[in-house]
Amino acid sequence: MRIQQIFFKNTLRNFCYVIIFDDGAIYCIDPFTAQEVRAFLGDKKSLTGIINTHDHWDHHQGNGELVETFNCPVFAHVKANIPGMTKGLLDGDVIYKNSEWSLESLYTPGHTLSHICLMLKKDGKPYAVFTGDCFFNAGVGNCHNGGDPEILFATIHDIFSTFPDELLVYPGHDYLKRNLEFTMDIEASNTEAEKFLAEITLLDLNEIFFINDMKIERKINTFLRLQNPAIQRKLNMSNADDKEVFIKLRELRNKW
Ligand SMILES: [Fe+2]
Repeated sequence: MRIQQIFFKNTLRNFCYVIIFDDGAIYCIDPFTAQEVRAFLGDKKSLTGIINTHDHWDHHQGNGELVETFNCPVFAHVKANIPGMTKGLLDGDVIYKNSEWSLESLYTPGHTLSHICLMLKKDGKPYAVFTGDCFFNAGVGNCHNGGDPEILFATIHDIFSTFPDELLVYPGHDYLKRNLEFTMDIEASNTEAEKFLAEITLLDLNEIFFINDMKIERKINTFLRLQNPAIQRKLNMSNADDKEVFIKLRELRNKW
């Protein structure tokens, strides 16, 4: 099994992913455009399926051309509004399975109400999660276009906070630097975020990307640190519950 991350040098900094299984099955998640995906596939003559995490245009606009070329199915949440979608998914649906790996739909509403993540499992255990616009390196998605911050809180709190430390995170955009800057603004004493930010500031972030695991995310992602006293003090919310802190952080990040 191999995961290829494709970065698009657009202002939205989209990522698309191609997963190639050893038996030749190939899935493409969130094609921003078809051209780069086709270029990566090269002489491989088939694409087993396209999967869209949600129905915002920048996650599915490459579908049409890829379907034309490969005549493959398009998977997304059953309520997603995506032209040409052929297979509606619900939470827990298995898209692909072999003796070692499986790829499953995980219902994760909040950024939109029909958003899914894709959970890649190895021997039945979570190995990697493709998070679309639900969860980013050091941040979470906005709720501007069809979303709801209270529902996003429930998704992060009930699902993401239970993920194992070793789970790899493959987000739908590269917002790492900006999110780390937000973390430092909210929690100036976060030495892990400070170190990470110092490291990436020296790099060409159109060429080099980081695949974080949940262990790192728990240290640098403010939205997973709702009970941290320094964050609560900064927000003047020392007695607030997790949901109130999350929604305040989301509001601040919207304007930040
Ligand atoms: Fe989106």
